[in-house]
Amino acid sequence: MAVGSGPPGAPRRPRVFSGIQPSGDVHLGNYLGAIKRWVDGQRDKENYFCVVDLHSLTVPQDPETLRRQTRSLAALLLAAGLDPAQCTLFVQSHVTAHAEACWLLNCVTPLGWLHRMTQYKDRAARQESVGAGLLDYPVLMAADILLYDTDEVPVGEDQQQHVELARDIAERWNRLHGETFVLPTAVIPTAGARVMGLDDPTAKMSKSQAHVPGHAIRLLDDPDVIRRAVSRAVTDSGNEIRFSDDPARAGVTNLLGIYQAITDKSERSVQADFADARGYGDLKRRVTDVILGVLAPIRERHAELMADPAELDRLLARGAERARAVAGPKLAEMKQRMGLILPA
Ligand code: AMP
Ligand code: TRP
Repeated sequence: MAVGSGPPGAPRRPRVFSGIQPSGDVHLGNYLGAIKRWVDGQRDKENYFCVVDLHSLTVPQDPETLRRQTRSLAALLLAAGLDPAQCTLFVQSHVTAHAEACWLLNCVTPLGWLHRMTQYKDRAARQESVGAGLLDYPVLMAADILLYDTDEVPVGEDQQQHVELARDIAERWNRLHGETFVLPTAVIPTAGARVMGLDDPTAKMSKSQAHVPGHAIRLLDDPDVIRRAVSRAVTDSGNEIRFSDDPARAGVTNLLGIYQAITDKSERSVQADFADARGYGDLKRRVTDVILGVLAPIRERHAELMADPAELDRLLARGAERARAVAGPKLAEMKQRMGLILPA
C-alpha cells in the first residue's frame, strides 16, 4: 500500500518517526538499537525516517565528508531493509519546516529544560567551546517529531530523555496555544537498546569512537576487520557463558546481547544455544558468524545503491516531497496559532 493515511474511513495507523545523524560511522549499536527495529516494524504503520543532517552540524563537520556520509547513510538505511513503499525516507535539511518549527518551539521551551539534558552535559563537558546548536539540539529533535503527529519514536536508550522532552514541549505548547500536537512516546527495544564498546564493555558503542580499532563494529567494515574486533573483545578470566548484571562480566553479557538482538531470541534460548560452547573463543566465533550473516547482504546492497547516486537522489527528493506534504500544513497551523500572518 502506498504511504499515506490509508483507505478513507480506516482508523488512523500509528505514526512512527525516527532519525539518525550522518556524522561518524554507523555501527552495530545504531543497527540493533534503532535501524533493525525500524525495518522490522515498518508494516502496518505510517513511517517517517530522517537523515538528520542539521543535527550533525551541532559539532564541526568537514563539508565534503558530511555530504558523502549523508548519501551513504541513506543508502545504508535502504540496504538494511527500509522499503520506500512502506516509509518516507528523507534528508532533514530538504524539508525546511523542521528548522522553522524549531524556532517556534524554542520560544516556548524553558532554558532550564535544555540545561538538564544529560547528553548535552556530557558533550559540553568534553568540548572547549560549545555552540548554541548543541544546547538547542533536543528542540530541533522535538520539531522533527511533532511536525508529523508522531505516536511512536523507536530509538536506543540514550535518546529516551530527548523524546520525553519533546513530549513536555508538546504539552506546554498545547496548554499555551491550544491542542496542536500529538504526545509522542519513545519505543526502546528490549535487546540491543544499549550495545557496549567491544574494547570497553562499560561504555556504550559510539559513533564518535567508531574509528578507534576494536571499539565498534561498523556496518560497512570488512568481514576480516569484524572477525578481529570480536576476537579481541574484552571479556573476563572466567568461562561461564550467561547473561549477568556483574560489571566484571559485562563483556560476555554484551556479546550475548548482540547475539540476542540479531537472532530475536529470549535470554534463556540464547543461553541454551551456548550450552555446548567451549569457552569464550567459541562464543566469539558464533557471535561473529551471526554478525557477518546479517551484515554481508547489507554491505552488498549498499555498494549497488551507491553505484547509482542519481537514483538515490531521486528517491530522497520523492521522500522530501511526501514529508513536506505533512510537515507544511502542521507548520502553518503552528504559525497561525502563534499569531504570525501567513503570506497571501
Ligand atoms: P546516533 O548515532 O546518535 O545518530 O543514533 C542513532 C540511533 O542509534 C539512536 O536511536 C540511538 O539511540 C541509537 N544508538 C546509538 N548508539 C547506540 C548503542 N550503543 N546501542 C544501542 N543503540 C544506539
Ligand atoms: N538525536 C537523535 C540521535 O542522535 C537523532 C534524531 C534527530 C532523532 N531527530 C530525531 C531520533 C527524531 C528520533 C526522532 O540519535
